[in-house]
Amino acid sequence: MDWSPFVAAPLRSIAPYRPGITEEKLRRDLGLSEIFKFSSNEAPLSPSPLVMKAMRDALGQSHRYPDTQDLVDRLSRHQRVPASHLLLGNGSIDLIASLVRACVSPEHNVVLSEFGYCAYPAFVKEQGATVKLAASGRHFGHDVDALLAQVDARTRMMLIDSPTNLSGHALDPARLMDLVERVPAHVLLVLDEAYAEFASDDESAFNAQLPLVHPRVVVTRTFSKAYGLAGLRIGYAVADAGLIDWLNRVRPPFPVNRIGAAGAAAALDDRAHMECIVARVREGRRTLVDALGAMKIPVTDGRANFVLADFGPAAPAVYEGLLARGLITRAMHAYRLPGHLRISVGTADEIGRLVAAIGELKQPVNLTHTTEEDA
Ligand SMILES: Cc1ncc(COP(=O)(O)O)c(C=O)c1O
Repeated sequence: MDWSPFVAAPLRSIAPYRPGITEEKLRRDLGLSEIFKFSSNEAPLSPSPLVMKAMRDALGQSHRYPDTQDLVDRLSRHQRVPASHLLLGNGSIDLIASLVRACVSPEHNVVLSEFGYCAYPAFVKEQGATVKLAASGRHFGHDVDALLAQVDARTRMMLIDSPTNLSGHALDPARLMDLVERVPAHVLLVLDEAYAEFASDDESAFNAQLPLVHPRVVVTRTFSKAYGLAGLRIGYAVADAGLIDWLNRVRPPFPVNRIGAAGAAAALDDRAHMECIVARVREGRRTLVDALGAMKIPVTDGRANFVLADFGPAAPAVYEGLLARGLITRAMHAYRLPGHLRISVGTADEIGRLVAAIGELKQPVNLTHTTEEDA
């Protein structure tokens, strides 16, 4: 049956979000026993014993709706922001969707970077509003002047990911402050900092407090990346308390589950585990960049837990070749970059397997192509 006449009109121009292939799917499809996933920018380590215990303890209360105040209070102390400025979500993406739903109407536009996170445009279109794309800067990062040039009287929001989902490049503090100070008063600036903890510690503490001084700035963060809890779906927004009051009107009841909230609260107390993930990622990213560089594969080395590699015309063959060996990377069609693969940083063993497999594939698929430096 054709459902398109049935659904709300704005949905007709939206393509569904396609998540990366899961280990479970590849196991089912190819019958492989050993599968390694480098496609969704998850952490290389599983949850710590402290987090596992907190979740087990919470399981027994699963017949009760969750009370998430303990997590909010701990986050408040941890980020040094009042609890009234915090809102929890089912992942940070849930909060970004709510922000757009609460603030953007059909007469508005939302300014995004050309290579900003590919999940954003659907939220804007769902509101019947317009997306205005600013050209990205070097290494697919954000260009502050280009972003501001797109702002007009109808702009309600500017939504940027820093570090970005695509290349991991982050706005440096000076450029971010320049943007914050120049964004006109009628525009809400949403700063998606899903990968903040992988950048420098000082910066992350600073940006979480930005909304206290600049009420038209919202910062979103997540437990999915550096805290290694992607499967629990816990994110949070730091925003002006008045805006949170409005957001609460579009939120579904109980968006965050009891087990996830308990796990996230325990993770905040287990700083050593988070720091271990961050340290391993930084080390692994260096190994990956060096190994790909040695194979003359141009690679964009950002400040998150992945790298973006340019395989040129060989990319589809490399992607398929890796998949056949149980190694899942992410093709970048959603960003109109068919020659690129994004590779999350795994454990040292996983990186070793991936690099060896790329080395094996390199000759038959004639990987090497002309780089900027060669040209
Ligand atoms: C830039 C960016 N923002 C948000 C998200 C979603 O994170 P969460 O798991 O908190 O919903 C991702 C996930 O990859 C991301 O890359």
